[in-house]
Amino acid sequence: MSQFGPDYVRAIAPYQAGKPIAEVAREFGLDEAKIVKLASNENPFGVPESSRAAMAQAAADLGRYPDANGFELKAALSARYDVPADWITLGNGSNDILEIAAHAFVQKGESVVYAQYSFAVYALATQGVGGRAIVVPAKDYGHDLDAMAAAIQSDTRLVFVANPNNPTGTFIPAAEIEAFLKKVPSNVVVVLDEAYNEYLAAEHQFESSTWVRTYPNLIVSRTFSKAYGLAGLRVGFAIAQPAVTDLMNRIRQPFNVNSLAQAAAIAALNDKAFLEKGAQNNAEGYQQMTAAFDELGLQYVPSFGNFVLVKVGDDEQAGARVNLALLKQGVIVRPVGNYGLPQWLRISIGLPEENATFIEALKKVLA
Ligand SMILES: Cc1ncc(COP(=O)(O)O)c(C=O)c1O
Repeated sequence: MSQFGPDYVRAIAPYQAGKPIAEVAREFGLDEAKIVKLASNENPFGVPESSRAAMAQAAADLGRYPDANGFELKAALSARYDVPADWITLGNGSNDILEIAAHAFVQKGESVVYAQYSFAVYALATQGVGGRAIVVPAKDYGHDLDAMAAAIQSDTRLVFVANPNNPTGTFIPAAEIEAFLKKVPSNVVVVLDEAYNEYLAAEHQFESSTWVRTYPNLIVSRTFSKAYGLAGLRVGFAIAQPAVTDLMNRIRQPFNVNSLAQAAAIAALNDKAFLEKGAQNNAEGYQQMTAAFDELGLQYVPSFGNFVLVKVGDDEQAGARVNLALLKQGVIVRPVGNYGLPQWLRISIGLPEENATFIEALKKVLA
């Protein structure tokens, strides 16, 4: 164990990312081209054409620093969400927004509330500032908002809510979120992390940015990594009232979103056809996946994101064992033992043929 740094930094367990395709190819002696990666909830269509074209133009100017204030991207977001530009904070992915919020609002020893089985970065962001985590037991693998409201203490500075949640895919209807926001003390900042919002069916969509007008302690966090297909560029954003946004902007690195990412994000934001194609593929892929799970008699958590959490065995090694067997067949999924779910795997929804490859491999492994 290192002798350097504070205890709370040494206590951090590193984030476990999905294995890169090249690494699996090397490790298992496989052909990269045949590997299917359904491990990081990425968009199977990749980068939209509109973003590629915008990046090609922006590339000419890469000798210069990016626009530190992201003027054009903020203008596009401002128009899209009908909020003033100074209510927007740009992030190097929405992970950056989560980190910035922890740095801006939490001091060492103060508490942060989030749910069991919620996104791993909430724990990391809390630990990174020496915060005290109050982890509220999940209800049916999702957030128990009543219990979370009740768990808030006098030293609580921040609450993370993921909707839909990763890795469980659970969803909280608008009315329940609003009832929760009414209960949270006004000096406690709530980050509503909506990384998967664009995958919600029309009947579940609600414009949470409008709540930001009512709740000065609310931060809505969104990303271009999932439905917009720009995970590798790292761009996300937050919407909050100026008092909160101003502090986040003081903490953020001045050039945290690079020029290509800014250009690509503007193009993707206006690419309705790309979003629609992705949402439709996702809905169909979800049916394909869950039909296979039903056929195999596997329990899964109904998901509102672009991934599904499925239980692959009853023993504590089941997830790791099935994961390894799938890797050997060139299928990368995500074990979630680090979330306290060692019997489960999280599978991102891919293209129909990728889903089929996974399903075939899973059937072999479980046979
Ligand atoms: C719930 C949730 N929030 C935030 C993120 C962060 O994504 P990014 O930093 O790529 O925007 C993820 C990524 O997996 C996520 O699942």
